[in-house]
Amino acid sequence: MAVAAVVALALLCSKHVKAVAVPVTNPRCIDLTLPVSATSQNAIYDIPRVGSTIDAVSYELDLDTRTSPKDRLLRNITVSGTYDIAAKLCVPKDGKKKDLLHIATHGGVFDGRYWDAEIDPKQYSYVENVLDAGYSILTYDRLGNGGSDKPDPYKVNQLPMAVQILRGITKMARDGELMQYASSGSKAPSAPKFNKIIHVGHSLGSITTTGLITTYGNESDGAIITGFIPTFSFPAPTIGFDLHLASEYNPELFGDYPNGYFISSTQSAIQANFFSSRRNHTAGIGGFTPELLQYGDSIKSPFGVAELISAGQLNLGLAPDFKGPIQWMLAEYDWLVCGGDCRGTADMDVLDTLYPAVAGKEVYIQTGTGHGLPLHRNANTGFKVSLDFLDRNGL
Ligand SMILES: *[C@@H]1O[C@H](CO)[C@@H](O)[C@H](O)[C@H]1NC(C)=O
Ligand SMILES: *[C@@H]1O[C@H](CO)[C@@H](O)[C@H](O)[C@H]1NC(C)=O
Ligand SMILES: *[C@@H]1O[C@H](CO)[C@@H](O)[C@H](O)[C@H]1NC(C)=O
Repeated sequence: MAVAAVVALALLCSKHVKAVAVPVTNPRCIDLTLPVSATSQNAIYDIPRVGSTIDAVSYELDLDTRTSPKDRLLRNITVSGTYDIAAKLCVPKDGKKKDLLHIATHGGVFDGRYWDAEIDPKQYSYVENVLDAGYSILTYDRLGNGGSDKPDPYKVNQLPMAVQILRGITKMARDGELMQYASSGSKAPSAPKFNKIIHVGHSLGSITTTGLITTYGNESDGAIITGFIPTFSFPAPTIGFDLHLASEYNPELFGDYPNGYFISSTQSAIQANFFSSRRNHTAGIGGFTPELLQYGDSIKSPFGVAELISAGQLNLGLAPDFKGPIQWMLAEYDWLVCGGDCRGTADMDVLDTLYPAVAGKEVYIQTGTGHGLPLHRNANTGFKVSLDFLDRNGL
């Protein structure tokens, strides 16, 4: 995959702000700090050091330059560690499906809050809709983001490591180990034994999830892949993110991010990459209010220099052992992933070839919507499409 396309995909998702632990207000939820041990095959890449906002812009131009090398991998390295991952587990008290756990992985530019909008949760929060449908859900801040550890962004925080972190979290959930890591003061809902795990992703988080199910197919019971499809990629320019060094941009919020972590600085950049004003008036879906855009801008979060580039190291193709079901949920007017129009980007024959063991597969396009799917009007119509799909397919 071209670096620019990977970059674009990588930047698509995210939610929490730093160690400012967002208080859990939902009585169905509990904060966790999961010590996840992981070993990953990472790489040393030929990428510029980013120690200032001036460097961040140089990095964007370096990636976007038409004659820049496509392959920047210099050598492979093995990285091991135990990383603290900030997570939130929500369990509906009388939920009919509370032994089925969604594990949601956000994309670049946001943190875990991406899944749980505080504005009108019934309409915009995936977490709220999943709980109301009776399932449990775990959201987390990806490595290098929000309340999670922020390791070396050049060598450690790469997508193969993100896959191993997701895998580690999944194993802890299956083994019934989550509750022992509840933050003190957090009041525990009683967590059942989780019998099945459904992996949900957005953008870079969908790429991470795809990397999991292609390589460790038996460790997932179903997937909802939003804002990414393996049959199409668009080389969205990195410069469109208007990246600033995170710690320079807002020392109060992002002072604990080392050099090599940056943030999409302006609300206009957030709008261009994540929002679409092309509301479908017939369906009453899509478009956004100024309040939604401001909210999206307020929950943006940094990401690291090697995350986008290292997506090229993942297997995003054949998933021989994954039995599904799987749904790809695209936004009709997604700029980052589809160049502004996702219609016609899915190739069912190719998807059938890549996922030979899956019976239940579907591609759905949420009309009137941009890349940040939950931040558009009537986002819950899309959530319901995904939840109905799972239900129809035995989950
Ligand atoms: C790195 O590892 C990959 C996968 O094992 C391999 O295909 C590639 O040739 C290696 N690259 C280098 C520079 O050693
Ligand atoms: C998946 O398969 C591997 C290798 O056969 C096995 O070690 C592991 O326990 C399996 N995991 C699950 C969740 O079934
Ligand atoms: C609006 O949504 C409806 C219902 O999903 C669809 O049939 C129609 O094609 C959409 N219109 C546009 C312009 O996309």
